Amino acid sequence: MVNVLFICLGNICRSPTAEGVFRQLVDAEALGDTVSMDSAGTAAFHIGEPPDPRSQAAALKRGVDISRQQARRVRVDDFEKFDYLLAMDNDNHRTLLSICPSGLEHKVHLMLNFADGMQEQSVPDPYYVGGDGFEVVLDMIENASKGLLEDIRTRHL
Ligand code: 4NP
Repeated sequence: MVNVLFICLGNICRSPTAEGVFRQLVDAEALGDTVSMDSAGTAAFHIGEPPDPRSQAAALKRGVDISRQQARRVRVDDFEKFDYLLAMDNDNHRTLLSICPSGLEHKVHLMLNFADGMQEQSVPDPYYVGGDGFEVVLDMIENASKGLLEDIRTRHL
C-alpha cells in the first residue's frame, strides 16, 4: 500500500479537497486497494469539523463528495506511516519540515511540485478570499493529482 497525506493549515479547505479529488482519481484507475489517502492540518483551529461548506459545494459541482471528512491535526507518527506528505503551500511545507523526524524529510513535498506547467509553488488559501478561490484550488489540485499518481506509478507500482 502507498499512503498519501495531504496537508494544509486548517484541514477544512485545501487538503480535504485534495483528498477527495485524489480518491476519485485513484478509484477511477481501479487503484483503491493499492493507494490510500488522508488529510490533516498543521493548525488545531478546526479539529473535528467537516470541510468548509464552500469547499464541499465546489467539490460536489465536480462530482466529488467530501462531506464526510473530519479535520484532524498532523501527528509526528504520520511521518512514519505515510509515504508522501504533501504540503499545499510553502508555509505548511516549512512547518512540516520543522517537525519532521530526522531522516524522513524526503517524504515531504510541495503538492504543486507534481503539477504540470504551473509556476506557482503554493495553492492559495481560499478561506478568507472566497469568490472563485475554491475553483482555483480545485483546478490546481486536479492538475497536481494527475502528476502525483504518475509519480506513484513510476516509483512504487
Ligand atoms: P485550509 O484553509 O488551510 O485550506 O483548510 C484555512 C482554513 C481555516 C483557516 C485558515 C485557512 N483559519 O484561519 O481558520
